[in-house]
Amino acid sequence: MTNVLLEKKGNIAVATINRPKALNALNSEVLADLGELVEIVKADSEIRALVITGSGEKAFVAGADIGEMSTLTVAEGEAFGKKGNDVFRALEVLPVPTIAAINGFALGGGCELSMSCDIRICSDTAVFGQPEVGLGITPGFGGTQRLARLVSPGMAKQLIYTAKNIKADEALRIGLVNAVYPAEELMAAAEKMAETIAKNAPIAVRACKKAINEGLELGMDDAIVLEEKLFGSCFETADQVEGMSAFLEKRKHEPYQNK
Ligand code: CAA
Repeated sequence: MTNVLLEKKGNIAVATINRPKALNALNSEVLADLGELVEIVKADSEIRALVITGSGEKAFVAGADIGEMSTLTVAEGEAFGKKGNDVFRALEVLPVPTIAAINGFALGGGCELSMSCDIRICSDTAVFGQPEVGLGITPGFGGTQRLARLVSPGMAKQLIYTAKNIKADEALRIGLVNAVYPAEELMAAAEKMAETIAKNAPIAVRACKKAINEGLELGMDDAIVLEEKLFGSCFETADQVEGMSAFLEKRKHEPYQNK
C-alpha cells in the first residue's frame, strides 16, 4: 500500500491516509488501499485497536477526488459510490475497534470515513462538512445515512443542505466527535485510547462492537436477544476465566490472550 501507511505498535496499529499533495483526497487507488487495510487488520490477531488519521498537518481527508469524479457518467457515478460504500462498510463492520483521529479537514468523503469508525476525536484545527450539494452531487460514501443516525436527522439535513463547514467545537457540541485536543496532542490521545481498549479482553470488546452495531439495526426485543448470545459467547474463554478469577482472588489479571 502506498496511499495508506500502516504502523503496528504492540497491540495497536495506526493507519495514515497518505496523499498529502491532494489533502488525502480519496481516489480509486486510495479506496483500494483502504480496502486492503481492512483485510490486513482483520487477518492480524495481534491488532486489537486501529487508529486512522491523515498525513500532513492540514487534512484528515478533504473528500472524494473531485478530479476523478468530474467526468463520470450516471453509471460510473453509481459505481464510484458503491466502491466507497463497500470499503467504508467493510471498515464499519471490521471486528477490531477503530478510532478516527481527525487532524484537519474532514470534508465530504473525509467526514464519511470518520463516521465509519467507531469513535471520533479531533484536533482543535479540524473542520467538518458535507460540501457535496455545492458541487452538484449528494454525499456518496454513506453521509446521508450515517450523519443522520449519528447526530440527528435535523442537524444532518442542515449540514448537508447548506453545505456549510463546521469547526471542532461545533462538531463536539452536536456529538459528531467525542473530544477535541490541541493539534500536537491528538495522536498521543488517540494512541492512549487505543492502548486502553487493547488492554481489555479482545473477544469481549469485539462482541460489544457487534452488539452495538447490529443491535441498533433491530427492535429492542431482538436486540436484547443478540446481546444475550454475545454475552454468553464470552463465557469459558480463557480471558473470562482469568478476568473473573483475578477479581475474586484480589489480584491484577494477567495480560489478556485473545482466547
Ligand atoms: N479532490 C481532489 N483534489 C483535492 C480535493 C478533493 N476533494 N481537496 C483538495 N484537493 C487538492 C487541491 O486541488 C490542491 O491541489 P493542487 O495543489 O494540485 O492545486 C491541493 O489539494 C491543495 O488544496 P487547496 O489548494 O484547495 O488548499 P486550501 O487550503 O486552499 O483549501 C480545502 C483546502 C478548503 C479543503 C479545499 O481544498 C477544498 O475545498 N477541497 C474540496 C473539499 C470538498 O469539496 N470535498 C468534498 C468532495 S465531494 C465528496 O466527497 C463526495 C462523496 O461524498 C463521496
